[in-house]
Amino acid sequence: MSSEKAVTLRVNGNEVNIITPAHRTLLEALRHEGFVEIKSGCEKGDCGACAVLLDGVPVDSCITLAWHAEGRDVTTIKGLGNSDSPDPLQKAFIETGGAQCGYCTPGMIIAAKALLNENPEPSLDDIKKALSGNLCRCTGYTKIFEAVQIAAEDLRKEGEAA
Ligand code: FES
Ligand code: FES
Repeated sequence: MSSEKAVTLRVNGNEVNIITPAHRTLLEALRHEGFVEIKSGCEKGDCGACAVLLDGVPVDSCITLAWHAEGRDVTTIKGLGNSDSPDPLQKAFIETGGAQCGYCTPGMIIAAKALLNENPEPSLDDIKKALSGNLCRCTGYTKIFEAVQIAAEDLRKEGEAA
């Protein structure tokens, strides 16, 4: 019996077909396919560097098996925006210096995106709680929290102008 599985999922809106050992994590499988914007840190669910949205819900991809994503939508940091058209969170992280070495940043922004999708007007405590599973060794967190507050405000303004 083969221990490999065929998995079809969508990553940032594009269908991806992978053949993967049954025990391979979503982090390993997607990085193997070239989605290296998903960062590998502790690989045990402690640091949040590997966070992606799975059907809109943030998960640590290092403790999610690849086959668990069968038929589902994965969003990585690259699915939110790019340098020509950044997501307000990406823009705000740059403005405040919330991204320094940048290793934690993809996971931080993914966690913050999930928060703002659910709660467009988060308090500082809401932001701290939503990002409590994401570790950063560079920024002291203040600039990150500030970036999320700025992005929330920008998104609210965009909503009012629409
Ligand atoms: S690499 Fe997944 S939580 Fe640290
Ligand atoms: S910016 Fe370096 S770990 Fe967060």
